[in-house]
Amino acid sequence: MNIDYLIVGSGLFGSTFAYEAAKRGKRVKVIEKRNHIGGNVYTEEIEGIQVHRYGAHIFHTNDKNIWDYVNQFVEFNRFTNSPIANYKGEIYNLPFNMNTFNKLWGVVTPEEAKAKIEEQRRKAKITTPKNLEEQAISLVGTDIYEKLIKGYTEKQWGRKATELPAFIIKRLPVRFTYDNNYFNDRYQGIPIGGYTQIIEKMLSSDLIDVELNTDFFENKEMYLKEYPKIVYTGMIDQFFDYQYGELEYRSLHFETMVLNQENYQGNAVVNFTDAETPYTRIIEHKHFEFGTQPKTVITKEYPKTWKRGDEPYYPLNDEENNRKYRKYRELADKMPNVLFGGRLGMYKYYDMHQVIGAALSIVKKEFSE
Ligand code: FDA
Repeated sequence: MNIDYLIVGSGLFGSTFAYEAAKRGKRVKVIEKRNHIGGNVYTEEIEGIQVHRYGAHIFHTNDKNIWDYVNQFVEFNRFTNSPIANYKGEIYNLPFNMNTFNKLWGVVTPEEAKAKIEEQRRKAKITTPKNLEEQAISLVGTDIYEKLIKGYTEKQWGRKATELPAFIIKRLPVRFTYDNNYFNDRYQGIPIGGYTQIIEKMLSSDLIDVELNTDFFENKEMYLKEYPKIVYTGMIDQFFDYQYGELEYRSLHFETMVLNQENYQGNAVVNFTDAETPYTRIIEHKHFEFGTQPKTVITKEYPKTWKRGDEPYYPLNDEENNRKYRKYRELADKMPNVLFGGRLGMYKYYDMHQVIGAALSIVKKEFSE
């Protein structure tokens, strides 16, 4: 059996590539080290509820082509991401908007809110922000920073806000309208029936063979010898045996439980923004699909420092890591038979629509279209 492409990883990148290659008559083998397909977009049904095993996944894009692309596999619902912040029992709307400002200060008009933020920014006297704390205060003032940003961000990154680079929050979504919609994108939603079916459909061709529980590194040399072309979506530093040192990631620990009640928190996503609560978010999965099941499933999300062997969820794109990545990239460019892709292969904080976009442009290049 002649395989044209070996794809390492059945996440959104690997599966998009596999689908497109099979559409062009190529034979594909996908190997996946987990016991399921889909990578981090994987959803599974528990108590009739689609559970996002690796954290809340909300599809959003401004690109009509990408939106039409995913809609060919599944219908999306009209879910709008409107997370809630819980600061020591006080509830605020996110992203920061007139509802948040009204709750914080009792202001009613955009002018009043702007004046309040301006007054706090002026008092702080920050001209060139040197770190995340100064950057945040210079953007939104002290109250929002103290209650809604500081604790959450420090938990998320495992570092003091004064030790984090300013660029992490170059943009803070601040709105002077009463609009709780987190994303500005034209299209957003959740696939009705979950994300896994998208991946199943992408991999359903007879030309695609999927092997689960298979780690590329158990047979790296054999794969490199036997397969003419490899699409690799694992960690790029691991591929090159960490020869320039490890790239850093943030990891997460998820605690999922079924509760014998219909509605636990009244919202899909609640962020816990104080420093004391050890988790950053609680997700109540049924609200992604407006579920009415008698029970509910919630997941607490605990941030964790990554160490070798942990799941690398978020690339930590600071200067040092990006510099290291560029060195790995140079090695990758010298291997024309291996295409590096996805969040881990490209060491980039990609959202789902960007991963699909990146896979489609590599497909175009690969097939000279
Ligand atoms: P992904 O990591 O999904 O897939 C890589 C696959 O390769 C994995 O299945 C892995 O097991 C496998 N693999 C790795 N090494 C291997 C090896 N050596 N051998 C075999 N297999 C190997 N995006 C968005 O648009 N909206 C959102 O709301 C969110 N929310 C969100 C929450 C959290 C907590 C995270 C971590 C991420 C998001 N995302 C998101 C981002 C989204 O998850 C991401 O864009 C895609 O899943 C990336 O797909 P990839 O295929 O690149 O990687």
